[in-house]
Amino acid sequence: MLIRPYSTGEEAQLHAIFHSAVHGLACRDYTAAQLHAWAPQDYDGALWSQRMRANQTLVAELDGRAVAFTDLQPSGYIDMFFVAAPYARRGVGGALLRHIMEMAHTRAIGVLRSDVSLTAEPFFARHGFRVETRNLVPVRGVALENATMSRMLAL
Ligand SMILES: CC(C)(COP(=O)(O)OP(=O)(O)OC[C@H]1O[C@@H](n2cnc3c(N)ncnc32)[C@H](O)[C@@H]1OP(=O)(O)O)[C@@H](O)C(=O)NCCC(=O)NCCS
Repeated sequence: MLIRPYSTGEEAQLHAIFHSAVHGLACRDYTAAQLHAWAPQDYDGALWSQRMRANQTLVAELDGRAVAFTDLQPSGYIDMFFVAAPYARRGVGGALLRHIMEMAHTRAIGVLRSDVSLTAEPFFARHGFRVETRNLVPVRGVALENATMSRMLAL
């Protein structure tokens, strides 16, 4: 597996991964209305591209194909963490998270934090994250449950 910075021009591919992860994996924990609000088919491409760029998004590639993406903000916040549904449960998420932990260590970031879906919560818990708060977040007029989770890192 290769983990690399995303390149300008692959934003639509990253959105397809996001859409696949939400509709193909998170579908076991959220209603159709919640999934539609979270990852609608129609989206603002300019806004999405801006977010990918600003986040300094990282891409995981398997056999030359982008299959997952994430990011690490200077504060230690992880904004997005998505694995395309057909590539789930193969260790891609684990490899991405280990990569982020190494980056955090290099940057002397002491705490990782993310707002994590119900689907991703067991995965983050397995990797040492603990729930700080449980949240009900309005997204496009629909309430979505998530949890703010964090993990301290040894500096
Ligand atoms: C949560 C998510 C990122 C995990 O990614 P992943 O690539 O499936 O993660 P991994 O494969 O490293 O580990 C996932 C599970 O598969 C298991 N697994 C890993 N490799 C495996 C393999 N070869 N065969 C079977 N199971 C495997 C792991 O033990 C782990 O089990 P657990 O969930 O009981 O802890 C992914 O499921 C996802 O994108 N979910 C939907 C979107 C979402 O909620 N994103 C987060 C928003 S904050």
